[in-house]
Order: sequence, then structure tokens, then C-alpha cells
Amino acid sequence: MPSELSPTAKAPPPMRALSGIQPTGRFHWGNYFGAIRQYIELQTAGEAFYFIADLHALTTVRDPARLRSLVHAAAVDLVALGLDPAQATLFVQSDVPEVTELTWLLMTVCPMGLLERCHAYKDKKTRGLPADAGLFTYPVLMSADILAYDATVVPVGEDQVQHIEVCRDLAGTFNHLYGDVFTLPKPRLVEGGAKVPGTDGQKMSKSYENTIDVFEDLAAQKKKIMRITTDSRPMEEPKDPQGDHLYELYSLLASEAKRMEMEALYRRGGFGYGEVKKALVEAAADFFATARSRRAELEADPGRIEAILADGAARARRKAGAVLARAREACGLSRGASAPGRKA
Ligand code: TYM
Repeated sequence: MPSELSPTAKAPPPMRALSGIQPTGRFHWGNYFGAIRQYIELQTAGEAFYFIADLHALTTVRDPARLRSLVHAAAVDLVALGLDPAQATLFVQSDVPEVTELTWLLMTVCPMGLLERCHAYKDKKTRGLPADAGLFTYPVLMSADILAYDATVVPVGEDQVQHIEVCRDLAGTFNHLYGDVFTLPKPRLVEGGAKVPGTDGQKMSKSYENTIDVFEDLAAQKKKIMRITTDSRPMEEPKDPQGDHLYELYSLLASEAKRMEMEALYRRGGFGYGEVKKALVEAAADFFATARSRRAELEADPGRIEAILADGAARARRKAGAVLARAREACGLSRGASAPGRKA
């Protein structure tokens, strides 16, 4: 067996990050601290592909004009937050039709039971809500998203880990049947940001109506922050900051020095939660101030965003096309460049 030092040892694949985000409304702090911040960190660490998951959004957004405007706004937000199109490929999921073809190939190796256990579908079913086949097969499309770019790491929040496991399962089965076609990816979570709490202490999520949006109007944001739920322990009582969702949010947004001051204040006691909330309002305004002004500039130049997305789609299609060709060839769909419907 080749050792790590032997000349025949296989070099590890280069780091290639990939992730997707749904344009179902404006991004919230959970999206930013769980995922977007990692996208930005990773864009200088290797190759990076990030996309706006409009095909996934179709399972909830049924208004075409709204979907178009949400996709555009998502791209503006990502660039304003620091995603650099010169470093990372930014594109819209549906601009790469290769991925939907790959979805079908993966569907043929996907056991029903695997999808029945996936939480998005299971949650809807237990709540007695109607689920369509799009929602049921959602993790297969997500697997194709990842495998189409030979991704090695997928920066996400905790709620997406199950889907990445499905992806690894499907890639493993396909590889077992047809040879070494797909690269197996790993999820990448950030400590402290993998499950950002919402205003009520549950996971921040649009479906729980407990979000604070990154680019929300500051007055509206302040109102939401001031309404964050807290316990009723007396002011003078010292408190453990660990597990306190208000403190958890503050530590994501404040500088390290301010976070330490706040931690000491909690342990000392003798403060009101109102004070902490006011400090959080300020920390949030400071933290996103640069991104807010960048956003205003980008909004004034819609052509620039569309050009970034067009360039991203062309780059993404080149990569996904090569992986799809490999998969078609492996499973016997390819009859060479002269086959009808295929260009070399
Ligand atoms: P979406 O659009 O629901 O969420 C985008 C990203 O934000 C993370 N996130 C959170 N992280 C920490 N704390 C929270 N409270 C929180 N809320 C959301 C999510 O984990 C995610 O990383 N299915 C995906 C989109 C997708 C995708 C992909 C992701 C489609 N194809 C391929 C990775 C790879 C989704 O709905 O994410």
C-alpha cells in the first residue's frame, strides 16, 4: 500500500469549496454567521463556487416576478458582504442545466427510504402539510449541486449536514457501481455559528419568524432586538452567559474586547437585559456598516451584478459539463461526440 511519502501515493484533491443559498427572502444573521462568512473566508483558500439556489426556492416561491427580484437581491447582498467574483465563481443554480441532468442520474441510485428520513420532507409531513415531489427529492438536487463541481468542502450551517450525508451516500453508490466518478465532499461548520439562535432562542429560521435580517432597516432591526425574549431572573443575580441566546448573538457581532466585557458583566450580575440589547443594536450596526454602504453602491448598478452572474454561469457550466460527461460515460449514456443531441 502506498504510504503518504511514497511517490505513488495519490495526492489529496485540491480544496474546492461549494455552497448554495436559497433566495427566499433577505439573508438573516443565521445565514451570514453559519454560511456566508465561511464562503468569504474560503474564497482565498482554494477554488470556490457559490450559487443562488433558485431551483430549490421554486418549492416555496411561486411568484415569478418575486423570484427574479429575490435572485438579483441575493447576488447584490452576497457581493456587498464580501463575496469577490474575482476570487470565487458566483452564479445562479438554474443557469447550469447540467446539474438537473446529473440529478436524474443520482435519482436512479437513490433509495426512497433515504429521502423519507430527510428532515425538510419529514417535518412537512408530520405537520400534515402537503409536500410535492420537488421537496421530497430536494436532497438529490442538492447532491448534484455539490458533485457537479467536484467540491471537497461544503461550508454550511448544522441544518444542512444531513443533506451532505445523503450526497456522500449517493456519490458512494454511484462510484461503487460505475467507477471513480465523483469526489466525496465534507461539510464545514463554524464553531459558534453552526446554529445561530433567533429572537426566541430557537434556531434562527424564516419558518419560525424569529429572524433578524442582515440588511434590515436599522429602526426595524432595533425593534426586533429590543423584543428578544429573555428570562425573568432578577437584575442583581450573576448569570452564566453560556447558553444565553442574547449573549450568543452579541458575541457573534461584538469585538473580542467587548465580548469579554459583556461576559464579565453577566458573571458579575447587576445589569438589565435592556442594556445588553442596546449594546447588541450598536454592535450590529457597526458590524455591517461597510457592507450596507457597498450594498447601496451595487444597487445603483444592476448591470454589474448581471454581468457577474453571466460570467459565473459560464465558468460553472464548464466545470459541471466536464463532470457530467464523466458520469454519462461511466454509466453508459455516452455514445461519443457524434451521438444526436450531444456536442463534443
Ligand atoms: P438555506 O438557504 O436554508 O440556508 C443557507 C445557509 O445558511 C445556513 N443557515 C444557518 N446557519 C446557522 N444558523 C442558522 N440559524 C442558520 N439558518 C440557515 C444553512 O445551513 C445554509 O448553509 N439546501 C440549502 C441550499 C443548497 C445548498 C446546496 C447548500 C442547495 N444546494 C448545495 C450547500 C450545497 C438551503 O436551503 O440553505
